[in-house]
Amino acid sequence: MAIVIETKDLTRVYKTYQKPEGFLNSLRGFVNRKYDSKTALNKTTLQIESGQIIGLVGANGAGKTTLLKMLSGLVTPTSGDALVLGYRPWERKNEFLRQISILLGQKNQLWWDISPMDSYALLARIYDLDPSAARKRVEYLASMLQCTHVLHTQLRRLSLGERMKMEIIGALLHEPRVLFLDEPTIGLDIVAQQTIREFLEQYVKEKGPTVILTSHYMDDIAKLAHKLLLISKGSIVYQGTVPDFVAKANTELAESEEVDFEDVIRRFLETESRVR
Ligand SMILES: Nc1ncnc2c1ncn2[C@@H]1O[C@H](COP(=O)(O)OP(=O)(O)OP(=O)(O)O)[C@@H](O)[C@H]1O
Ligand SMILES: [Mg+2]
Repeated sequence: MAIVIETKDLTRVYKTYQKPEGFLNSLRGFVNRKYDSKTALNKTTLQIESGQIIGLVGANGAGKTTLLKMLSGLVTPTSGDALVLGYRPWERKNEFLRQISILLGQKNQLWWDISPMDSYALLARIYDLDPSAARKRVEYLASMLQCTHVLHTQLRRLSLGERMKMEIIGALLHEPRVLFLDEPTIGLDIVAQQTIREFLEQYVKEKGPTVILTSHYMDDIAKLAHKLLLISKGSIVYQGTVPDFVAKANTELAESEEVDFEDVIRRFLETESRVR
């Protein structure tokens, strides 16, 4: 299978300005600024094959969103390199942007004050899509996501779950070959989570995009991901399938009862929070 995403020692360090307390100190801060630096992603080397769903898992602050933002060209690396579909993402070439999509579950990307349908019409123009083909595609995706009835309502009047479905349709409108989904089910009820999960499963089967998915709900990962990428404090600590991961953990633990995927992840996150 073809390699679609490739990184070599990809690193991102964020510098944040330490704001001193007090008025006089903050004036002094203008000339003598103190910075904190934080390595959000450290020398990550990866290869991802086409048509796979990769589940990216790690504690809060592990570097998941940073990795997705670099791979989609929203953030520039501090060092190292990456190629997605043969392009350097941060060069933000049009041909690249037309073939990828990033959905940030914690952020609205569609326009807040107009209906999703109007947003899609604008996106269709931005992506230079045929308007009637785009409309058909919206109707098809909306029926799969069971949300046709809200397409004409102002985005800000929709519930969180309805909004997320609208964002998903927006992210898929131009049929991206590579899709970055950052917490697409965050905060949703279990029925909405399940609808989105089943939708993604069927969508990937039909269209075959390469997907990197992050989620704090291990059901999403266990049900959808062909491969697991486990990240700890900016470094990848496991790459492989979910069953292999669970089997390895079970051999190591050698406990009387078998632990499942969710148990293993919980234990991993518990040790993470102790050593953080
Ligand atoms: N713009 C920024 N400026 C400064 N530090 C940042 C910035 N974005 C992220 N960081 C820091 O980089 C680290 C990784 O953040 P990131 O958002 O990639 O984590 P994450 O794995 O997506 O976490 P979560 O599960 O909470 O979404 C964190 O320590 C965060 O505080
Ligand atoms: Mg994140």
